[in-house]
Amino acid sequence: MLDVQTAAHPHVTRREDYRPPDWLVPEIALDFDLDPAATRVKATLHVIRESAHDEPIRLDGGGQVPITVMVDGTPINDWRIEDETLVIPLSGSAHTIETEVEVAPERNTQLMGLYASGGNLCTQCEAEGFRRITFFPDRPDVLSRYKVRMTADKARFPVLLANGDPVDSGTLGDGRHWAEWHDPFPKPCYLFAMVAGDLVANRATFVTGSGREVALGIWVRAGDLSKTDHALEALKTAMAWDERVYGREYDLDVFNIVAVDDFNFGAMENKGLNIFNSRYVLADPDTATDYDFDAIAAVVAHEYFHNWSGNRVTCRDWFQLSLKEGFTVFRDQSFSADQGSAAVKRIEDVRGLRAAQFPEDAGPLAHPIRPDAYQEISNFYTATIYNKGAEVIRMMATMLGPKRFRAATDLYFERFDGTAATCEDFVACMEEAGGIDLGQFRLWYSQAGTPRVTASIEHDAGSGRAVLTLSQRTLPTPGEPDKAPMVLPLRLKLFGAETAKPIGPEQLVILTGAEERISFETVTQRPVLSINRGFSAPVIVETDRTAADLAFLSAHDDDPFARYEAMQQLMLDTLVAGANQGRANHQAVIDAIVNTLDDPQLDRAFVAEAVLLPSESFIGDQMPVVDPEAIFTAREALRRDIGHALDARWRAEYDAASATRFEYSPLAKGLRRLRTVALGYIAANGGDEAAALAFAQFEAADNMTDRQGALTTLVNGASDRRIAALDIFYNRYSDNALVLDKWFSTQALSPRDDTLATVQELAGHRDFTLANPNRARALVGAFSVNQRAFHSGNGAGYRFVTDQLIALDKLNPQTAAKLIPPLGRWRRFDAARGDLMRAELERIVGTPGLSKDMFEQASKSLE
Ligand code: PHE
Ligand code: ZN
Repeated sequence: MLDVQTAAHPHVTRREDYRPPDWLVPEIALDFDLDPAATRVKATLHVIRESAHDEPIRLDGGGQVPITVMVDGTPINDWRIEDETLVIPLSGSAHTIETEVEVAPERNTQLMGLYASGGNLCTQCEAEGFRRITFFPDRPDVLSRYKVRMTADKARFPVLLANGDPVDSGTLGDGRHWAEWHDPFPKPCYLFAMVAGDLVANRATFVTGSGREVALGIWVRAGDLSKTDHALEALKTAMAWDERVYGREYDLDVFNIVAVDDFNFGAMENKGLNIFNSRYVLADPDTATDYDFDAIAAVVAHEYFHNWSGNRVTCRDWFQLSLKEGFTVFRDQSFSADQGSAAVKRIEDVRGLRAAQFPEDAGPLAHPIRPDAYQEISNFYTATIYNKGAEVIRMMATMLGPKRFRAATDLYFERFDGTAATCEDFVACMEEAGGIDLGQFRLWYSQAGTPRVTASIEHDAGSGRAVLTLSQRTLPTPGEPDKAPMVLPLRLKLFGAETAKPIGPEQLVILTGAEERISFETVTQRPVLSINRGFSAPVIVETDRTAADLAFLSAHDDDPFARYEAMQQLMLDTLVAGANQGRANHQAVIDAIVNTLDDPQLDRAFVAEAVLLPSESFIGDQMPVVDPEAIFTAREALRRDIGHALDARWRAEYDAASATRFEYSPLAKGLRRLRTVALGYIAANGGDEAAALAFAQFEAADNMTDRQGALTTLVNGASDRRIAALDIFYNRYSDNALVLDKWFSTQALSPRDDTLATVQELAGHRDFTLANPNRARALVGAFSVNQRAFHSGNGAGYRFVTDQLIALDKLNPQTAAKLIPPLGRWRRFDAARGDLMRAELERIVGTPGLSKDMFEQASKSLE
């Protein structure tokens, strides 16, 4: 029977069905005759039969038809195409297969395979893009040595880059030239890359610990060269860090990064030739915020770190994706923590986890960090795989301690170098070198959902005994009704309510059962519990701590994260009460903010984080039914009160934080951050005069952080200067795509009543296009996470997003499918909203010609 793969009969790939490959491809030579309209690709594969079987070789394709197929130098005819796979019967145990295909990069709007961006040609192969370039066993456990030859018009594509090291190049008579690159390291095809373009490089040399000289290059359009210093510095810092912290050296003679404007994700770790979304490369003070600078360093480090965690040791199959991504995110987070304030970095990471991963784990698309099944693997590049995956590695690092963790990663890299490994391989190394049993801990790999921990403490002043009761439960997720207790490493400490000093040292309590009790003796004063310090486990903690306890911890806890957390909890309790009851007492929050502002020990970046209110969606996550209007109203009321009660303080902080000249240092960044937060509170309380202050900052700013901070304040407000500022901003940056993205997203994220109308209008703006993923995300993606606006207008917000996603799916299914989750949150809202959201998901599922990416996301969201 014919296996019809339509959206309604999706093909499901299951982890349990994994089988090793029938054929290996130890060597491949690729020959590209490059042209945007018609590129010829000749591939020569040396294939070896793996074990005794009589299966033909199956080479994945992406819809192309081979122009020729040859086996051992002779053209053959007995090949066939099944679905998109090229099936070739082979008699012996080793053969040479040659194929030739033609592809059209300039018509490739999916941005997978070989495509054109800004007049240059580039590739993206992870996860399954290589098959769109040539026929090949497109699976990560087939590792090959690559030789690549590229021929192209010399004037149009003067620079030709590929993986590995350059070996030869030359000029042809007809205005064309060629280059050849060899990569000595066997790699899966998802790490293949090549670039042909009119590019210039910011170059440097890095000398590795063992004395190897590596030529570094950051390749961009000529006009962008001045914006590459930060990325280059970050690269050098990351290379040295990986040697120092993980003992990992770079292994080729060159390391190149290329920036492209059209890119589905952040960046890609192709061996020796990383390809980046230009937003994670280009920065100067005039166009990039501090946040952008930090993100660039983090992504440069992340992709570089993949050279070991991903490339030297790769994944056996795509179910193991978190093996490389969770670990590499953990590595980049640790790197960033070492570059500035570790506490602020941890706060940012936890905020990100709560904004993206917790809702995922609580919704219809919940999956464990090692999933069991997928329809489209691109849909599994999720916050769960990446960020929860990093938390799982962090928990193991916490339990092992730094020395044993390093021994375990050394063992992992040594044992699996040059192979395609599994999550189980990694955990086994942690167990072996760490000397601990991770049997129950492995549940983190197979069980979805965020555990909820309740903690309550009973104190008997007479006997001096305190008993802490900890319990855990995880709510059901789709397909997993019953959850087992997890291993939860919880760093905790008690503080004396009277002395405000710790009672005893911090303990690492490893909760493994559904409920456990821990006793503390000689506790002579009432203890206040500080728990999950440093966010040692990715869980939701519920305690019976009072507002006074939380205020106390926010002033006295000696773990900065716990201090932040206490303040957040206090704010959340206040805001949820406000949303439920229409009013709340704001005094405790205001007092806690004053205490924090007054503390001279705290760095300004930390203060800026600590005094910031939780987002509207995070408040919604605490409520059984999300009421966007009530949340917005409660949050605005608290913001106004904080602004009003502390007006003089905010103005003092604002003035104190005003620097004379731009500097990129942790101290200066902290001051800018606090200044923007102060401006927000001044504006929450003030009217026209506050808008004038914001406008003055907007005009005087010598950097994008201050300029965008002021613009956001204006765009969120009622003043007429809003229009003027937007116009000035637009005109100043109309030729800079990355800054125009900010112009779009700032408006899409505004809490104003007219945001929906504004966004609808912006979708018709001459600078708006769905063809560029950054631009699509800047408008549609940003709007759909603006809780109040997205859920406004009686479903008009949902309709707008759905219309855009259906249109985007025709161009770029991957990017479209990633924007489905906000619609999938329908269960969290009232019935009227839920029905409207479901109707839009049904409209998506019923769209003729829908991609399997969108089908999987939308149909699962309806279940
Ligand atoms: N592997 C990339 C990373 O470093 C992400 C990515 C996935 C990029 C798929 C492109 C396509 O996380
Ligand atoms: Zn990655």
